[in-house]
Amino acid sequence: EKGGYEHYMIKEIHEQPHALRQALSGRVGHGSVDLDVDLPEEYVRSLEEIQVVACGTSHHAGLYAARLLESHADVRTTVHVASEYGFTGGRDPSRTLVVAVTQSGETAETLGALRDAARVGARTLAVTNVVGSSVARAADESLYIRAGPEIGVAATKTFVSQVATLALLAVHVGRERGVLSAAAASELLGDVRGLPGAVQRALDADQQVRDVAEAYADSEAFFFIGRYLGHPVALEGALKLKEISYDHAEGFPAGELKHGPLALVTEETPVIAVLTEGARPDETLNSVKEAESRGAPVIGCHSDGHGEKFIDAAFEVPALGEMEPLVANVYMQLFAYHVANRKGRAIDKPRNLAKSVTVE
Ligand code: M6R
Repeated sequence: EKGGYEHYMIKEIHEQPHALRQALSGRVGHGSVDLDVDLPEEYVRSLEEIQVVACGTSHHAGLYAARLLESHADVRTTVHVASEYGFTGGRDPSRTLVVAVTQSGETAETLGALRDAARVGARTLAVTNVVGSSVARAADESLYIRAGPEIGVAATKTFVSQVATLALLAVHVGRERGVLSAAAASELLGDVRGLPGAVQRALDADQQVRDVAEAYADSEAFFFIGRYLGHPVALEGALKLKEISYDHAEGFPAGELKHGPLALVTEETPVIAVLTEGARPDETLNSVKEAESRGAPVIGCHSDGHGEKFIDAAFEVPALGEMEPLVANVYMQLFAYHVANRKGRAIDKPRNLAKSVTVE
């Protein structure tokens, strides 16, 4: 069932273009979307806040989506690690939509957060891969990401499918609220539709990523940096690498490098940067220069030649507006995979981890 691949993880990484096509199938029109979720227009117009609850990779997808919801749907969006969630006073639950993002639909903390929200009267929406899962059943509405089964413990194809599906939700909410023009919606949808092809181009560069990963595999630690939409991708890149390689990896907003982590940067610590549209490449470049001048090797996932002069290894991201950081993420997945594989790790079942965490 691994279809000739050595691990489920690498198979699932390569399934991303297909997973994305499934997520988008029948849902994208010209300047509009059809999501088949019952969110009455009046309610959407009255929304004061969207609260996203999620764990791990799904939390990172939520962080990405929150930026899209705020900018395209003009609705305040907060993102909560599900185990830290609590519906506190001051907000009107009837004007709050709580979105639980969970691949499995079985994560205990996400289910608990969704139930807490329902208890105080908020409307709830599950964004999940698994039809009939506990979270889907507990939520008022479900929006499926249609990525197909994911076996590897490391979430890969479901991350990009979650963000793409949530981008459609941002368009839906923005159009219903009358704050997103058809032209602006078309532009974002065009970028989302371009994802399968752009992701495929990154996958076609697998051998190049493997060579770079093998060259740096024995480094002391790895730092992932990015801004705005590049920030959740930096967090996700670090999570993927630490989870499957057991190496020390950290992700943070690029601007924070100089506020502490820079003390750890040496020739032995590669810095992996998101230098694409949607990730404030010019500002991120300042952080790249700080790392480079301390002798750190810089790996750049870049579009449009951003930062070329300061990068030791470059992975090309095709032009795709706000979806570019998602393509950078694919390079990071491949990088993590090849580092871990070189070390002979149990990639599909890393030590101490489970695919779905059903205990709090
Ligand atoms: O099924 P869920 O999306 O709710 O799972 C949440 C996390 O447990 C999950 O994303 C975890 O962080 C992954 N193993 C990361 O690769």
